Amino acid sequence: MAEKSISGRGTWGSKIAFILAAAGSAIGLGSLWRFPLMVGRMGGAVYVFAYILAVFFIGFTEMLAELAIGRYSQKNPVGAFEAIRPGSGWKYLGYTGVITTIAILSYYAVVAGWAFGYLYKTIFGLFRNVTWESSAAIFDRFVSNSWESLFCFLIVMGITTYIISRGIQAGIERFAKVLMPLLFILMIFLAIRALTLPGAGKGIAFYLKPDLAKIDVKVLFFAIGQAFYSLSLGMGIMITYGSYISKRENLVSSAGWVCFSTTLVAFLAGIIIYPTLFATPGLTPEKFAPSLGLMFQTIPLVIAKLPGGFLFGFLFFILLQVAALTSTISLLEVPVAFLIDEHNWRRSKAALFLGGISFFLGIPSALSVGASTALTRFGFFNKMDLLFGNVLLAIGGLGVLIFLVYFWGIKPALEEIRTGCPRFRLQPLWIFNVRFLAPLAILILLIFIKTVTK
Ligand code: PHE
Repeated sequence: MAEKSISGRGTWGSKIAFILAAAGSAIGLGSLWRFPLMVGRMGGAVYVFAYILAVFFIGFTEMLAELAIGRYSQKNPVGAFEAIRPGSGWKYLGYTGVITTIAILSYYAVVAGWAFGYLYKTIFGLFRNVTWESSAAIFDRFVSNSWESLFCFLIVMGITTYIISRGIQAGIERFAKVLMPLLFILMIFLAIRALTLPGAGKGIAFYLKPDLAKIDVKVLFFAIGQAFYSLSLGMGIMITYGSYISKRENLVSSAGWVCFSTTLVAFLAGIIIYPTLFATPGLTPEKFAPSLGLMFQTIPLVIAKLPGGFLFGFLFFILLQVAALTSTISLLEVPVAFLIDEHNWRRSKAALFLGGISFFLGIPSALSVGASTALTRFGFFNKMDLLFGNVLLAIGGLGVLIFLVYFWGIKPALEEIRTGCPRFRLQPLWIFNVRFLAPLAILILLIFIKTVTK
């Protein structure tokens, strides 16, 4: 956000700066931790393909819609709907985004806390000579120790709140710019090692050989949910980011790059995890029941198989921490920007207040992975993720599409998109998707999902 635009809002220094910042928000635990977990829960390769299709047909469509609304209105989500359709009540859609980001942040930062815990565990050499059993036990012991997991959660939330209260996210993003390509290179190393483990074939088959009989409403719904989650859509993050893009930039190729890089990271995460998992003696796809710890339990196994594994492990968990932090920052920035813009709060006060709310809201999630029997049995964490991370994102995303088509208009939206992109070759496909395919798919799946999640 280097230069100031005419309207006085900051703009991104360049197209690449925007892509890296948006990719910083997008790439995070959603791709590295949640995607492989969902693949396991949904039965493997069919879900991988459903996810890729969902990104291409629905995620990309939605991202372009959100960026266009943001750049046109130059506002935060609540202000954006109000600016385009004053007094229409559409601003309440912006409010749901504000609430959704706080709720997602509350349990997302718990997982980011686990990543923090793994950083010092790696430094203390806990994963030397690790086996599947010991790795699973280390995770279980860690998350059922309420003091330790709450401490890690508090650290991550504290760092996020501090960065947002000082308004220094741009500084962090500059730093992340260098580190994210490094994460990508490291993941390629880990993927090559995982693919060459003896017995990796079973994992590759589980991950890439689709069994079409497994396609159902649930798989499709959670594929769209994951596309929204990993691309930070459906809650106003990309509207806010769009408001900082200069009119000279090409929204279409920017959105395309963000979708592509996020999907690639998610895909690589699965390529590392599944071959490693099924190359482990005794674990077959039939016996395998994925838990929230899937990524944390599996990564140490492949790292242990690399020469100089300690160094790789240390580097991986540092980079994971940075990836998680750039996402927690973007989640907290939406409600903070709302309180500053619409209610004239001071930045530091807004950050402390909302960071505090997210922390307290996150405590039951942190305790529901073993530490508290009652909360674990109730499945508090999974319920939060289902409600906010899937259903509300889908509703928010659907709302944006309906707003664009019926209340703003395809024509002005296209005008905005074509500013900076005179040759929009996917235009007919985008119009079809934004009008029919994306809203109908989300609507139908939302209606039917009740019958399958009972
Ligand atoms: N998209 C980011 C991730 O996948 C963070 C995020 C998650 C943002 C959910 C919004 C909603 O890690």
